[in-house]
Amino acid sequence: MARRKLVVGNWKMNGLRAHLPQIAAIGEEAAAYPSVETGLCVPATLITMANEVKGAAFIGGQDCHAKGNGAHTGCLAADMLKEAGATWVIVGHSERRADQGETDSDVAGKALAAHAQGLKVILCVGESLEIRDSGEALSFVLAQLEASLPEGAASDWLSIAYEPVWCIGTGRIPTMDQIADMHGSIRNALVQRIGDDGNAMRILYGGSVNAANAAEVFAVADVDGGLVGGASLKVESFGPIIAAAAA
Ligand code: 13P
Repeated sequence: MARRKLVVGNWKMNGLRAHLPQIAAIGEEAAAYPSVETGLCVPATLITMANEVKGAAFIGGQDCHAKGNGAHTGCLAADMLKEAGATWVIVGHSERRADQGETDSDVAGKALAAHAQGLKVILCVGESLEIRDSGEALSFVLAQLEASLPEGAASDWLSIAYEPVWCIGTGRIPTMDQIADMHGSIRNALVQRIGDDGNAMRILYGGSVNAANAAEVFAVADVDGGLVGGASLKVESFGPIIAAAAA
């Protein structure tokens, strides 16, 4: 099944007004590769400003609360992100699972809250190095997926990002065989869970994607694009990754 490649930058806790020219340049690069759907998930403080310069890129948030409003100091509801101009949001990133103690059911709730506001969702899963070394990576990630994927998940609003924790910001990536194994297993699990639409759902790889490895990673079966951290902060490093997805 043909799936449009999706390449998304996760700016994490990086980005001030001074970085808007990079967003504009990335938006121009996105326009040069219309076969690829390109976006940037920026800090919430930048969403409105980023929207003004985004060109052909979409702008997303990096998290939302599962509830619509209330006494949750420091948190953001999905409709707030939407009002600021986000059209996508990441949920369940491993840094939030670790730093904020987010559980699989929290993540499923966040995805549903985002969808209820019309936001598209990138739902992250991935194993630690300890789990990878113990030989349990596949079963761990499939269990995480099963418990984090909300009821009613569908390919027109939700994509999966497989991000092995030991590859995030480390410069390490799995072997292409390991990526193929994981993405193929996630594909099978999606089809089992949601039927044929599981074949249309995009599965991104994330973790130390860069200009040098993107083409090889994106050529792996069932890799439908990437979720890119450090290399997405500058057009010089992100542009070639978008181009690799278009190839
Ligand atoms: P790096 O590309 O910096 O390894 O980060 C990956 C990531 O966590 C994207 O969400």
